[in-house]
Amino acid sequence: EEKITTYLLTAEIIQPLIPVRNRQGHKGTHGTGVFIGGSVGMSGAVVLGGRGALRSGIGLLQMVVPEGIVETVDRGVIEGTVWPAPDYEMLGQGAWNAVLERLTEADACAVGPGLKPNSGFLPVIKSILADTSVPVILDADALNLVAGQPELLSLRKGQGSLVVTPHPGEMARLCQCTVLEVQESRVELALAKAIEWGAIVVLKGAVTVIASPDGRVFLNPTGNPGLGTGGTGDVLTGCIMAYAAQGVPLLGAACLGTFLHGRAADELSGIYGSAGFTAAEVADMLPKVRKTLE
Ligand code: APR
Ligand code: MG
Repeated sequence: EEKITTYLLTAEIIQPLIPVRNRQGHKGTHGTGVFIGGSVGMSGAVVLGGRGALRSGIGLLQMVVPEGIVETVDRGVIEGTVWPAPDYEMLGQGAWNAVLERLTEADACAVGPGLKPNSGFLPVIKSILADTSVPVILDADALNLVAGQPELLSLRKGQGSLVVTPHPGEMARLCQCTVLEVQESRVELALAKAIEWGAIVVLKGAVTVIASPDGRVFLNPTGNPGLGTGGTGDVLTGCIMAYAAQGVPLLGAACLGTFLHGRAADELSGIYGSAGFTAAEVADMLPKVRKTLE
């Protein structure tokens, strides 16, 4: 069996990935990201993802959510714009074309947090992967939906434009194995799937594994069990989307986002102790930890 070489992420590796702001920069040059997700009762997933993106320096944030939560998300993320998603069943009738067109103008896109595994949405995911070339981050229920048809994840093979961010449960569903099997071979499985799908795999958990289809594997030492609270994964998705939108190559955006997200939690555990800080606080701590590396 071949031995896999892994690289430990350090501040020295991460620092050069941080995008430098041009003095002439403006919101149009700091990237546009489209965050698609949410459902009634899970509007917070989009609010937190949006907050993660804004706190990571994105220029313009657009959120696409079901009609019923547009107002809630609008109020929850006052800096972003919100667009009602067409019915998930309406792809065939072209109702999603406007959204797909929006994506051709965007610099990055995230899909999944709070979505609910409505199978009517699967063709939307397929269309995003097949008909656009925008860098995409798939998370949460986007992954649970794709688990029925994991070959969809290979649609962008060779392009380096897809990141998936499963937690161990989502990874188990994607790989049709048990969570125990995922946890017993996190590095091997993340790399094997990264190669199979041609996608960057961010396998979350204590020591998140970031595997690239080029064979490299990075281990993230930041973060702590205080992150084990609802919504922190959504913040990470927004954070990675924001760095991708700012032009950081996707593998770098995945490493940078994961490292800073964990650092933010470590900073918070220094203030609050081992638990009790929230996902929103993790988002709000992101600029401060980035500053320590600038
Ligand atoms: N040490 C370090 N990091 C940790 C630890 C730990 N012990 N526990 C969790 N984390 C980090 C993970 O690495 C990840 O970045 O916290 C984050 C948790 O992300 P998720 O598991 O996606 O959790 P959450 O944000 O609550 O997900 C919200 O997504 O998975 C779906 O159905 C789920 O609706 C839920 C939504
Ligand atoms: Mg999650």
